[in-house]
Amino acid sequence: MEKILDSISKEIAKAFEAAGYDANLGRATWSNRPDLCEIQCNGAMAGAKLYKKAPIMIANEVAAKLADSKAIKDVEAVNPGFLNMNMSDEFLAQYVEQMSNADKFGLETGDKKKIVIDYGGPNVAKPLHVGHLRSAVIGQCVKNLCRYMGHEAIGDIHLGDWGLQMGLVITEIKERMPDLIFFDDSFEGEYPTESPVTVTELEEIYPTASGKSKEDPEYKAKAMDATFKLQSGVRGYRALWKLIMNISVADLKKNYDNLAVDFELWNGESSVHDLIPGMVQDMKDGGYAYISEGALVVDVKEEIDTKEVPPCMILKSDGASLYNTTDLATILDRMNTIKPDRIIYLTDKRQNLYFEQVFRCAKKTKLVDETTDLSHIGFGTVNGKDGHAFKTREGGVMRLEKLIEEINDKMYAKMSDGRELSEEEAVSTSKKIAMAAIKYGDLSNQPAKDYIFDIDKFTSFEGDTGPYILYTIVRIKSILAKYEANGGVVADAKLLAPESKQQKNLMLEITKFISMMESAYEELAPNRICSYIYDLANCFNGFYHETKIMAEEDKAKQASYIALLVICKNVLEDCIGVLGFEAPDRM
Ligand code: ARG
Repeated sequence: MEKILDSISKEIAKAFEAAGYDANLGRATWSNRPDLCEIQCNGAMAGAKLYKKAPIMIANEVAAKLADSKAIKDVEAVNPGFLNMNMSDEFLAQYVEQMSNADKFGLETGDKKKIVIDYGGPNVAKPLHVGHLRSAVIGQCVKNLCRYMGHEAIGDIHLGDWGLQMGLVITEIKERMPDLIFFDDSFEGEYPTESPVTVTELEEIYPTASGKSKEDPEYKAKAMDATFKLQSGVRGYRALWKLIMNISVADLKKNYDNLAVDFELWNGESSVHDLIPGMVQDMKDGGYAYISEGALVVDVKEEIDTKEVPPCMILKSDGASLYNTTDLATILDRMNTIKPDRIIYLTDKRQNLYFEQVFRCAKKTKLVDETTDLSHIGFGTVNGKDGHAFKTREGGVMRLEKLIEEINDKMYAKMSDGRELSEEEAVSTSKKIAMAAIKYGDLSNQPAKDYIFDIDKFTSFEGDTGPYILYTIVRIKSILAKYEANGGVVADAKLLAPESKQQKNLMLEITKFISMMESAYEELAPNRICSYIYDLANCFNGFYHETKIMAEEDKAKQASYIALLVICKNVLEDCIGVLGFEAPDRM
């Protein structure tokens, strides 16, 4: 559907033309003084320079041409030359009606693109902590957003499953259980299928090993050797690694499930190991990679750079591959198997420069062509109220599982307190609200900004929070249910022109959906969706408090309120669906 401001701009453009001025001057915007008018056009100001005429004269002439417009009313030229106007009530009602009959409220989706979203990025054998929240939550939302915009989106978790950390874990297991069959070089039979350690043990094994290797160079050498053996395919090491992977991935799945975050692909750094030698050879043959101080590098600096962009290191001087190498090989793999038009990465913003290097290197070495869009969303840190990285009360690293549990418990306490929910409903409802609290709390911030994870604020039913949005949806659902219980048929409700300011505000806000979604996608900015639904929820609540919906005696009027509630609820629900949470029926 045409965006509402575009329709109105067209009318104003025609009026400019009819008055003898350039049609391009007729661009409408939402008013920045809603107390004065709903829509404004500043074209007469620009026209003044072009036509050497006082802007107010131009504005007056254009206003006269708009006098019998069907889309706008109350057109006024005000000094020094603004055009202020309101939307016609009938036109607005027709537009909202059309939106409610259209797929996705009239949002038009362009060419279908294939998009890979690389998010999550956990490291195997380490539990998820609060720092993993953003990648998971923003990544899932970006994936949903791409799909809502009509694209094919494929999520890949890109596990950190191949580096020194795996060597460390294997080394520590070997220290503790040297007799395990995996470490017997002469063994040629079938290896066990059960992991010799549990996930809980792994969570202690990794930090212990990492601590030891920092203090003890000999231990570190052992870990590097174990990494080398694993990567070069020593059977026992591969077999043990596989078992560690199995239990670790099962545990990760459980954790991501709890957040309603899912991935189409569970690939990792290890998945592309075999592609590295060929890729490196091609980079050398193409004349891109050269040896610098023993290491193999590709220059990626460009003339326009204002800060230094160091070369992209492909192999260390000992021939070992790096984080870069696997990322580049992963691009190669994705181009071979998926052929995406775009890849979007989500990581901490401290990796901004890193991704700049990787992207330039991928383009320069022709792993991708010029048209492939490589984007990185670098996000800020989740902080505690003290402004430092979020910690447990005891000052330790906050595990994601614990954080979710804490918020679930808090919501459960609210839901089982004085409400008529069954135990089962209280549990499922509190989980839904907790999810909204966490995700909205994160997504309502610009991704690149740090934010304070304020549990009390996020779980509040009032203010700019997920629970407030859910509360609004639940309120609408309950009105609709009452209407039906009284014999009304929601599906038959027809929208009429607005009669009150609040009703009109709500309708106007609904019309902003299309352009909001487009810019959320354009800018990859979930926070746009959040601030939109917060405004929309406020508009609804403003309308609700001013209007007696159930007590309205004029049935046509009442039905029109109901029709408005339906579209408002549907828009809110589609938006939270993209954000990655859902509303309960009651709360
Ligand atoms: N495992 C990495 C880390 O912990 C994040 C991976 C992000 N994705 C990527 N393609 N590099 O920092």
